[in-house]
Amino acid sequence: MLSIRGLVKVYPGPVAALQGVDLDVPVGMFGLLGPNGAGKSTLMRVLAGLLEPTSGSVHFDGRDALADPMSVRRTLGYLPQDFGFYPHLTGEQMLRHLLVLKGVTSPRGLSALTAELLERVNLTFAAKRSVKGWSGGMRQRLGIAQAIAGDPKLVIVDEPTAGLDPEERLRFYHLLTELAEQRTVLLSTHIVEDVAVLCPQFAVIRGGRLVARTTPRAARAALQGRIFEGVVAPADMTELRATRAVTQTLLVEGRHRVRLYEPDGAAPTGFERVEPSLEDAYLVLMRLGELPGAEWIDVTASNGPAAGAGRPAAGEPVGVRP
Ligand SMILES: Nc1ncnc2c1ncn2[C@@H]1O[C@H](COP(=O)(O)OP(=O)(O)OP(=O)(O)O)[C@@H](O)[C@H]1O
Ligand SMILES: [Mg+2]
Repeated sequence: MLSIRGLVKVYPGPVAALQGVDLDVPVGMFGLLGPNGAGKSTLMRVLAGLLEPTSGSVHFDGRDALADPMSVRRTLGYLPQDFGFYPHLTGEQMLRHLLVLKGVTSPRGLSALTAELLERVNLTFAAKRSVKGWSGGMRQRLGIAQAIAGDPKLVIVDEPTAGLDPEERLRFYHLLTELAEQRTVLLSTHIVEDVAVLCPQFAVIRGGRLVARTTPRAARAALQGRIFEGVVAPADMTELRATRAVTQTLLVEGRHRVRLYEPDGAAPTGFERVEPSLEDAYLVLMRLGELPGAEWIDVTASNGPAAGAGRPAAGEPVGVRP
């Protein structure tokens, strides 16, 4: 279990990128969903031991990750958001180079380990090709290969699906799901679909604070009966946006198919009630900073909700509260 308490990071400027993050992340896949600039990469760099926080604590399986970063680093795999490649190297050479940098060794030798890892992420076919000709999905899989070298118990992947086409994304989803069977995989993303497909539990971060820690099912249930859909002429869109909480708009044959959040559950004229989606829940959270009616869920607590675990401190302005 990864336990984060009161994590604050203020960059020079000052920029308060993390403003008191409390989070427990259990074994399995866990999503960290948030828009650009929310603080996802900052949090992940702190967890990976690459960035010193201003204050707060991080423990992994009881070990203090900030006081003793080396001990945690040995059990950690990290795929950064901007993963650098040497384009002239072959996949095999690139991975081998990364393993050396990481200090990973194997009793069977580095070549055998490299081949094994490439096989694991389905890249054996491209091992001898130079990385410059690889697709985005192939590169991300190579990034995963280096992250899982040494069989880490905690894998942190920062926006790994951004820029992948649907087919590559699907393949990548399968790989991540496999990895999360025996370890903690913390995945950051701004793509709601990543969470809907992969994550039994997730947290939403906005402006350096967690605004929800919940499950996709609970997030959708919180909006039950309060999402409506209708078709709107382009000329009416400005007024609609000014007066209603629009969660999604889709252009269909020159008209807008619009989804709305209506807190009182009353259908606006011409709109009908629909099943809430995770996208609706995320957009309501982004708009309001909370998901009214949902609970702040301590899904990691083994004996009912742990007091305070994963909750914002009392008096914080945001949070999903009963
Ligand atoms: N080295 C830095 N110095 C100063 N400010 C920074 C630095 N790195 C990040 N920030 C700021 O901290 C905030 C959080 O940035 P961060 O990169 O953690 O967000 P993010 O959620 O990963 O965003 P994205 O989705 O764009 O990757 C932003 O306001 C960003 O501009
Ligand atoms: Mg980022």
